[in-house]
Amino acid sequence: MPQRFAQLSDPHLSTLHRVRAKDLLNKRALGYLSWLRKRRFEHRREVLDALQQDLNLDHLDQLLVTGDLTHIGLPAEFEEARAWLEQLGDSTRVALVPGNHDACVAAPWNDTFGLWRAYMSSDKDSGLAPGFPTLRVRGDIAFIGLSTGCPKLPLMATGTLGRVQLCRLPALLDQTAQRGLFRVIYLHHSPLAGEEKWRKRLTDAKAIQTLLVDKGAELVLHGHGHRAHYRNLETRCGLLPIIAQPSASALGLYGADIAHYNRYTVCRKSNGWQLNIEERRYDRASGLCQSGAAQTLQLERTMQQ
Ligand SMILES: [Fe+2]
Ligand SMILES: [Fe+2]
Repeated sequence: MPQRFAQLSDPHLSTLHRVRAKDLLNKRALGYLSWLRKRRFEHRREVLDALQQDLNLDHLDQLLVTGDLTHIGLPAEFEEARAWLEQLGDSTRVALVPGNHDACVAAPWNDTFGLWRAYMSSDKDSGLAPGFPTLRVRGDIAFIGLSTGCPKLPLMATGTLGRVQLCRLPALLDQTAQRGLFRVIYLHHSPLAGEEKWRKRLTDAKAIQTLLVDKGAELVLHGHGHRAHYRNLETRCGLLPIIAQPSASALGLYGADIAHYNRYTVCRKSNGWQLNIEERRYDRASGLCQSGAAQTLQLERTMQQ
């Protein structure tokens, strides 16, 4: 039976109209100026609402949200984002990983990421230790979440996976491959070395890229660059598509892509998997989503049970 999922990235949905001066005595001040100058015009709630209406979560096995829900990671923004998540869908249907904006500066867990805990959790029977990577299995699909958001110096938008996630991931990829599952990895930053500008890169991209080449996966989804692109990575298990999504709230005013998202349908085949990708793109004139490009990939796999 085909299984369906979708990804929204970088909604940047919070507002900073009521921010207080004392909230801006650190890296957040630069983020606030950026919001004041550009981001509040670029990231629009009506655009995000149009994508959400178009999604129809009832027809999806899982919705992946790949970080940057906030602008400067204030507790009030985390509250606002939690309200958005709750009206988006149940935490068993919506899975989230953090972005660099959410982890702008170090902040108390309970006032920030603790509010999103249910959306960042693994299945209860996953057997995994708390934290990342996370694992959710829906039918034939294993959704593996990685966190790249951690506080960095001012002007830096880099991300880091860190030793713990890089140590845990190989066994998780092996186990899910042995179970014959379609492995979807979702994270905020691109896992490809050299893909992003230096100040926006994943600092341990080389390590995860090497790991992916060795262990394979069936699909990697990320955001962060606010641009859509498609790459292929040759792995020991076969070709691995790596797909970047733009911001789900963007009007595309300053060179970034206008908001869109992809719907994915996965079917098991005798020699691997068939992956259908259907693009849904925001249309400024109508304020609705329209069909964009569509493609079907055949992913040959020989390592499944
Ligand atoms: Fe972003
Ligand atoms: Fe980002």
